[in-house]
Amino acid sequence: MSKKLYIKTYGCQMNEYDSGKIIDVLQSKEKIELIDKPADADIVILNTCSIREKAEEKVFHELGRIRKFKEKNKDLKIGVAGCVAAQEGKNIFKRAPYVNVIFGPQDLHKTNDLLEKSSKIPVVETTFDEIKKFDHLPDTMRTQNSAPLSIMEGCSKYCTYCVVPYTRGEEVSRTLDSILLELVNLIKNGATEIILLGQNVNAYTAVWEGRQIRLGDLIQIISEFEQIKRIRFTTSHPNDVDQNLFDCFRAVPKLVNHFHLPVQSGSNKILTNMKRDYTKESYLKIVSDIRKIRSNIPISSDFIVGFPGETKQDFQETLELVEEVKFDKSYSFIFSPRPGTPAAKMKDEVSKTEKQDRLKELQDLLNQYSKERSVELGGTVQNCMVIGKAKKHDNQLQARTECNRVVNFESNSIDLVGQLVNIRIDEVLPNSLRGSLQT
Ligand code: SAH
Ligand code: SF4
Ligand code: F3S
Repeated sequence: MSKKLYIKTYGCQMNEYDSGKIIDVLQSKEKIELIDKPADADIVILNTCSIREKAEEKVFHELGRIRKFKEKNKDLKIGVAGCVAAQEGKNIFKRAPYVNVIFGPQDLHKTNDLLEKSSKIPVVETTFDEIKKFDHLPDTMRTQNSAPLSIMEGCSKYCTYCVVPYTRGEEVSRTLDSILLELVNLIKNGATEIILLGQNVNAYTAVWEGRQIRLGDLIQIISEFEQIKRIRFTTSHPNDVDQNLFDCFRAVPKLVNHFHLPVQSGSNKILTNMKRDYTKESYLKIVSDIRKIRSNIPISSDFIVGFPGETKQDFQETLELVEEVKFDKSYSFIFSPRPGTPAAKMKDEVSKTEKQDRLKELQDLLNQYSKERSVELGGTVQNCMVIGKAKKHDNQLQARTECNRVVNFESNSIDLVGQLVNIRIDEVLPNSLRGSLQT
């Protein structure tokens, strides 16, 4: 008999990756059937995010919903994993005493043992065991054409607003051997695209045969695997962009023409208060250097508006930066004070409505530039990775451009999934593109 697992993931791609690993761990012990509604589950796992207050609240809301299934099925095991687990630990029991297991991102390799222990008493495991987990994770059996691959854990930047260093621990790079072993396993399971993951992938550093390896080297090494057709990486910090990465953009065609480089704000005063350790000018220098190598490269970013002390003038400088760089599809958020972070204690005098207005203004501008870029794609032929069937139409497949836009196109050839194809962009829609396969 297989166990029915309902697993829900919140937050970033690291968490998506971790959820995959939790599934691998459970599957290494017994047959697991993934279900998409919690009602009939034997095990429910919420892999949580605490980056902003809203993300955290969603978890408790979902736990409240799941509680009623536990009332019907006393054997149901409920686990809370991820960053809320790491941050709140046993406090979660106060709001949700029916939870069985609480475990942090560095403990997921112990999922089976923790679930077993929780048959007797509720269990909490939130260690910062560096990245020992990678030595204990089973090979994956999941087929993934576009496969995420974590190359580092945690973050040591301690931006004043951010919980990540407290929930995931200090930054630690995986060894090259460990990464390549996982890569080979991913290729065995059909991977043709690799997405290198970490909170700061361009801080990656390892020593291999006496030589220092940086992100650019790692990408070069991975690109030499014939089966891998395309490589992405996310996320990068401006301070860790180095010559090695520039060289890689120049030398490795398999590295996509897209760069996600979060800037957060265009005001030097705010950047200092965020402890980002770069200036608007040094950020712009990186943009101009990368565009000397790949002139048309789309650059995307994350932004925080309404950081404590952000004046109208500071915000104006963010808008000006957006106009200068013409960012592609980006993410923007209102500052959310997180417990235990320095920014949560900073004086914040901007009203909620003012922050909402600023966010709207920023998003309108960002949307305008990303729409302009989509329109520019109309009529061009794009090299795209086929990812699967289109959501709405049976006789269509879905692919992704290098700049990560979804393109739907007519085709019944399911064996194209995982392959790179040329697609002419015929129509630009608000959230996707429509195209036709070129032979
Ligand atoms: N390591 C990455 C991103 C980490 S989290 C980086 O440094 O760029 C993803 C994004 O969430 C951040 O880039 C930031 O824009 C946003 N974020 C993080 N903490 C936040 C907070 N307290 N309030 C609002 N947004 C936040
Ligand atoms: Fe958070 Fe800053 Fe680290 Fe990004 S670099 S994860 S924003 S502390
Ligand atoms: Fe959220 Fe943790 Fe990722 S806080 S954004 S799940 S690292």
